[in-house]
Amino acid sequence: MAKIIDGKKISAEIKEELKNEVAQLKAQGIEGTLAVIQVGNDPASSVYVNNKKKACAYIGINSESFELPEETTQEELLALIAKLNADDSINGILVQLPVPKHIDEKTIINAISPKKDVDGFHPESVGSLVIGQPGFVSCTPAGIIELLKRSNVTIDGKNCVIVGRSNIVGKPMALLMLRENATVTIAHSHTKNLKEICQNADILIIAIGKREFITGDYIKEGAVVIDVGIHRDENNKLAGDVKYDEAEKKASQITPVPGGVGPMTIAMLMNNCVKAMKK
Ligand code: GUN
Repeated sequence: MAKIIDGKKISAEIKEELKNEVAQLKAQGIEGTLAVIQVGNDPASSVYVNNKKKACAYIGINSESFELPEETTQEELLALIAKLNADDSINGILVQLPVPKHIDEKTIINAISPKKDVDGFHPESVGSLVIGQPGFVSCTPAGIIELLKRSNVTIDGKNCVIVGRSNIVGKPMALLMLRENATVTIAHSHTKNLKEICQNADILIIAIGKREFITGDYIKEGAVVIDVGIHRDENNKLAGDVKYDEAEKKASQITPVPGGVGPMTIAMLMNNCVKAMKK
């Protein structure tokens, strides 16, 4: 049976470390403030935004909330971002996604100063990651690296297969694993022989957004399995992209859903906020 990688416990450890770091920065007179912008009132977004604000309060940084109506124009949102970019009391700016359809997501991401881009979505942040320069890294993939390292998983020289190629998870994940000297394969919906490719993975990272798609036969005996998916069924039961009861019989270590990758995203957002305080 696989050992469980406990994301809840590891994220709590990280938040504790960050809390101490923030206390030390405060003792030097350095304050942190994260601006959190939500346009409209999508209930799922509201839950995420609240959890982010709670995490800020826990580690000791301020959060300033901007809850804008659904009808907010792109120009109004850009004006707010410009104001926050210029405000020295704001270290980090986060626009909760998705934004309403009449607003262009790329334009918004590009407008946030790379110095305050705690989500790591700005092209300059992504470019820095590609060429190994310091910069903000997207929170979910950064959290997965922390999960692996804190679970004593050797990455160097390992075959890592990432299923999914999104800008937020798959692509930055591949770059981070490459930085750790893994041999990286990115698979996706057009990949032929997906099962055979997955069977070759020492570390298998799944972010395809299909409930319980990865069954036990995709997994090599002893592989480390990281499940980024989260789905709720008609009975409100949560599951990931991996069929857990089959996978746990093959893997050496595995992340559960919930309580695996999920809690790490906010912990790494807080890590980016502390990084922003030091800039
Ligand atoms: N919506 C879903 N995930 C995220 C995230 O990590 N950051 C932001 N800003 N919006 C999101």
